[in-house]
Amino acid sequence: MTYDVEKIRADFPALKSGLAFFDGPGGSQVPTQVGAAIAAAITQPISNRGVTTLSEKNAEEIVLGFRQAVGDLINADPAGVVYGRSWTQITYDFSRTLAKSWKPGDEIIVTTLDHDSNIRPWVQAAEAVGAVVRWAKFDTATGELPTSAISDLLNDKTRLVAVTGAGNTLGTRPNIQEISQAVHKTSALLYIDGVHLTPHTPIDMQAMGADFFGLSFYKIFGPHCAAIAAKLELLKTLNNDKLLPSTSESPERFEFGTLPYEIMAGCTATIDYIANMVDGSGSRRQRIVNSMAAAEKYEEDLFEYMESEIKAIPGVTLYGHAENRTPTLYFNLKGVAGAEVHKHLAGLKVNAPASNFYALEVSRALGLGDTGAVRAGLAPYSTKEDVDRLVAGLRQLAK
Ligand SMILES: Cc1ncc(COP(=O)(O)O)c(C=O)c1O
Repeated sequence: MTYDVEKIRADFPALKSGLAFFDGPGGSQVPTQVGAAIAAAITQPISNRGVTTLSEKNAEEIVLGFRQAVGDLINADPAGVVYGRSWTQITYDFSRTLAKSWKPGDEIIVTTLDHDSNIRPWVQAAEAVGAVVRWAKFDTATGELPTSAISDLLNDKTRLVAVTGAGNTLGTRPNIQEISQAVHKTSALLYIDGVHLTPHTPIDMQAMGADFFGLSFYKIFGPHCAAIAAKLELLKTLNNDKLLPSTSESPERFEFGTLPYEIMAGCTATIDYIANMVDGSGSRRQRIVNSMAAAEKYEEDLFEYMESEIKAIPGVTLYGHAENRTPTLYFNLKGVAGAEVHKHLAGLKVNAPASNFYALEVSRALGLGDTGAVRAGLAPYSTKEDVDRLVAGLRQLAK
C-alpha cells in the first residue's frame, strides 16, 4: 500500500487556496467526489423514502446505503446505525432516552478528558432523575486516562460509562478495549465518542467492545452531520419519545423527521472516498482498514517531525503527553495569548485556532481556564511543507 499525499490533495479543491489546515480536529476539508455525490443525490428524482416509485426507491437506497457504509467504516451492525444532525444532538437524544430507565442512586461515569458533548448531556440527564455522576479524571501531568480511573469507580449501580476514543485537544487515546472489559464485568453500557478518533485510525467498534460508538462526518472529509451505531437488539430495548404516526421500528425511531437524503449520500461518498484513498483490493471494509492504516502511519511520521520541531521553539509548553495519541498538539507560547497566535498564523495562511475546543474540563484541569490553548492537528492531506510553515510562523512570535 503506497500513500500518495499529492494524489489525495488533488481531490480537495480547498487545498488550492494555499491555506495550511491544522484545524482538522475542528473540521476537515472535503473532496470533489463528496460534493458531487451530494449534488447528484439532491437533483435526481427524489421523494420521501418508499418502495413504490422510482423517486421513493432512490431515497430508500440512499438510507440503506448510508447504514451499510457506516457499518463498513466502524465495523458496526448496519441495522443499528442511526443518523444524527451532530454528535451533540445524538448524545442529548440518547442521554434522555437511556436515563428513562435510571433510578435515584444509579450511577454513571463521565471523564474529564472528554469533549463537553459526551459529558454535559449525561450530567444533566442524571440530575433529572437523581442518578449519581462519578468523574474519571485524566492525569494532568501525563495526559493519560488510565483504565483504573474508570474501573475504580465501577460497581453494580453503574448504568453507563461515557468516554472518548481520543481527547480532541490532548489527543490521548484511552485503552478502550481494556476499559470495555472492566465495564462489561458490570451491567453498565459503554458509550464511546469516536469523533476525534475516527479520522486517524481504522475503527472496529466490535473489537473495542463499545455498546455505542459515534462519529461526525465533517471530521472525516464529509458533510456536517453525525452517526451513532449500536446493536439493533440493544436499540430495540430502548424506548424514546417520538411522534405518534412515526414508525416504532429501529433505527428509524431514533431519527426524527424527514432524513436529509443528499447529506446521507454525501456520507456514503465520504466513506467510499476513504476506501479508495489508497490503492487496494477486497471488500469496502478491507479497503477502509487498508487506507486508514496507511493514513495513520503517514500521520504518525509527520507528527513525530511536527512535535519535535514545535518542542524546539523557545517558550513552548506542550500539554499532551500520552503514549498513545492522535496527531494533535495542544500548546501555548510564553507571553503570547493563544488568540494572538491564531491571528498571526492566519496572516500567514496557516489555520491553527486557540480555544478550549469544548474540552472544557481538560482546559480547566490544566489551569488554562476557559481560554485554553492553541491546537494544531494533522489530517491525511497535511504535508511537511505545511508543518514547516506552521513552525516558521510560531518562531516569529517566540520570545
Ligand atoms: C471529540 C469530539 N466530540 C464531539 C464533538 C462535537 O461534535 P458535533 O459537532 O458533531 O456535535 C467534537 C467536535 O469538535 C469532538 O472533537
